[in-house]
Amino acid sequence: MLEVTGLAVSYGGIRAVKGITFHVNAGELVALIGANGAGKTSTLKALARQLPAVGSLRYEGRELAELAPHQLIGAGIALVPEGRGVFARLTVEENLDMGAYSLTGRAGRQAVAQGLERAYALMPRLKERRRQLAGTLSGGEQQMLAIARALMGEPRLLLLDEPSMGLAPLMVQKVFEVIREVRAAGVTVLLVEQNARLALQAADRGYVLESGELAFTDDAPRLLADPRVQAAYLGE
Ligand SMILES: Nc1ncnc2c1ncn2[C@@H]1O[C@H](COP(=O)(O)OP(=O)(O)O)[C@@H](O)[C@H]1O
Ligand SMILES: [Mg+2]
Repeated sequence: MLEVTGLAVSYGGIRAVKGITFHVNAGELVALIGANGAGKTSTLKALARQLPAVGSLRYEGRELAELAPHQLIGAGIALVPEGRGVFARLTVEENLDMGAYSLTGRAGRQAVAQGLERAYALMPRLKERRRQLAGTLSGGEQQMLAIARALMGEPRLLLLDEPSMGLAPLMVQKVFEVIREVRAAGVTVLLVEQNARLALQAADRGYVLESGELAFTDDAPRLLADPRVQAAYLGE
């Protein structure tokens, strides 16, 4: 589904991502793990066409460079950014409507209503709070809202940047339950996480990013059992 070859991202003279090659098969949940500053967000932003990048980014057989950033949702790609990016002064439901703006033109109000119904079925907490301002939600609820908003565009590929960041352990579990359900519903997921254990427990495969380069890759259970991963990322 996604085939990335030689991806490089630079900020001025700083090379944040140094020519990495990886892929995501349709239906997979793939984790990209690495320490703070390893280049995870830069990789996702390059995929979401928010940063200029070098290399080949093939998605469903075509180069992402051929798409304008605003065409990504229509192409079935959605990014949940680091820090969530919900609109604090809009209500939960208004945030979800924003995520559906591409549907409004395409399929009209009915599609939006169906999207809301799906989001609320998956995350009942959001339904209870649908008239509440997003800025007054807990961190975990905001993360769920950010995921729900991304799902309103009915993506086939969901890019998640550090969904566990800053959340209490119980909320982290809930957010990851949602991620597993999204994947079970057939959405392909590329999950970026500093929390390697959590990410690899949810993932089929993983890639380890170190200083902008891929150090190694394997099936997630094997990475969890790998002494190099245990020593550097699992605190064992
Ligand atoms: N806007 C920016 N300007 C300059 N350097 C940046 C910028 N964003 C990120 N970097 C640098 O790029 C590297 C990778 O950052 P990032 O992709 O955010 O890593 P991660 O998400 O893995 O923590 C870091 O060294 C970071 O300081
Ligand atoms: Mg990051």
